[in-house]
Amino acid sequence: MLEVTGLEAAYGRARVLFGVDLAVGAGSLMCVMGRNGVGKTTLLNTIMGVLAPAAGTVVFDGEDVTRLPTHERVRRGMGYVPQGHETFPQLTVAENLLVTLEASRHRDRAAVDEALDVFPRLKDLLGRRAGFLSGGQQQQLAIARTLVTRPRLLILDEPTEGVQPSIVAEIEAAIAALHRERGLAVLLVEQYLELALRLADGFAIIEGGAVRRSGPAGELADADVKALLAV
Ligand SMILES: Nc1ncnc2c1ncn2[C@@H]1O[C@H](COP(=O)(O)OP(=O)(O)O)[C@@H](O)[C@H]1O
Ligand SMILES: [Mg+2]
Repeated sequence: MLEVTGLEAAYGRARVLFGVDLAVGAGSLMCVMGRNGVGKTTLLNTIMGVLAPAAGTVVFDGEDVTRLPTHERVRRGMGYVPQGHETFPQLTVAENLLVTLEASRHRDRAAVDEALDVFPRLKDLLGRRAGFLSGGQQQQLAIARTLVTRPRLLILDEPTEGVQPSIVAEIEAAIAALHRERGLAVLLVEQYLELALRLADGFAIIEGGAVRRSGPAGELADADVKALLAV
């Protein structure tokens, strides 16, 4: 479903990615890991067209989207939840979801209810301004907002970062349900090894600007993999 080949990215003269190869199969959950600052967020931003690559290609559903603007990628079914769970803080939960609905291709109001079914806790908070939610609730809202577009590939950047443990469990359950019950393909950047072990089908570890090691999720328990992730 997603095929990334030889992706290179840089900020000015500072090169961050030196040729990343990565694939996410239809209905599979791929976890990208790596130490802080290795370029995971840069990779996702480049996949989504937020950053232009220096080289390489991004193919989604057989179509080369490397030169397409971000909104065209969203239109084709790539849903992105950036790191830092940002929402419109002055807008209510309901308004945050409606903004995405109006911008979506389908404009089907049922998509809002579908997204709320994934995070039932948000149903009690519809009238609250997003800025007054806890970090974990904002993360749920950020994911729900992306789900309103009805993506076929969900790209998540550290969805459990800075989230209280009770909500980490809800977010994990939601991702598992989206993946296992609805068959959504997921590209997940996650530092929390245990969660990756439980959720992922496959993993890729970024180091030195490229995929240093990849394999089935079970191998995440290997000592040499853990050593690669150790700070
Ligand atoms: N907007 C930016 N301008 C310049 N350098 C950046 C920018 N964003 C990130 N970097 C640098 O690029 C490298 C990779 O960052 P990032 O992709 O955020 O890593 P990760 O998500 O793996 O923690 C880091 O060295 C970071 O300092
Ligand atoms: Mg990051």
